[in-house]
Amino acid sequence: MLSIRPRSSDDCHLIVLWVPDAEALYLFAGPRLRWPLTLDQLTMDERSPERTAWVAVDAGREPIGQFELTVHDGHAHLGRVLLDPTVRGRGLAHDLVRLAVARARALGATSIGLNVVMGNRPAVRTYERAGFVETSRQDAVGSLAMTLNLETPVR
Ligand SMILES: CC(C)(COP(=O)(O)OP(=O)(O)OC[C@H]1O[C@@H](n2cnc3c(N)ncnc32)[C@H](O)[C@@H]1OP(=O)(O)O)[C@@H](O)C(=O)NCCC(=O)NCCS
Repeated sequence: MLSIRPRSSDDCHLIVLWVPDAEALYLFAGPRLRWPLTLDQLTMDERSPERTAWVAVDAGREPIGQFELTVHDGHAHLGRVLLDPTVRGRGLAHDLVRLAVARARALGATSIGLNVVMGNRPAVRTYERAGFVETSRQDAVGSLAMTLNLETPVR
């Protein structure tokens, strides 16, 4: 069973270790960040008051994943979804995204959107399972935009 709490600077030291190479960095954060991932890059958007960063912790309170939410005018952007590589393939991503959606609702969002690399099948499938639908695709950069209406009842 996962739960979430605000991301701390100690968490960030661990999270950078979950991104082992440039390809993993691209899937995680898109083209904006440059390999190697540094603490400064991971935390640079924390200065924005609309941005919140969260870690998912397991039953032993150990961090196993993270995500970021930016809420503006009732719309949440979900970004930088990441699981510790050692816990992937167990279905935990579904819980992580469910918790992210619940937090977006709690922050007052009535819709939530994200961008994902088209070929990132585990991520796209996870978002589809959470109810996100594709709204547009940017073929030039190889990414999809997906959204979920939060005004509909909880699934
Ligand atoms: C994206 C991420 C959180 C998904 O977690 P995960 O543990 O790897 O995901 P899972 O193995 O549970 O797979 C999720 C779903 O995708 C499916 N899937 C996995 N690989 C797949 C593939 N190659 N093709 C189709 N479906 C696939 C799984 O079957 C599962 O669906 P199901 O539960 O309906 O069977 C994780 O891979 C991660 O942290 N990746 C690096 C960062 C990243 O890409 N973040 C996304 C930013 S948008």
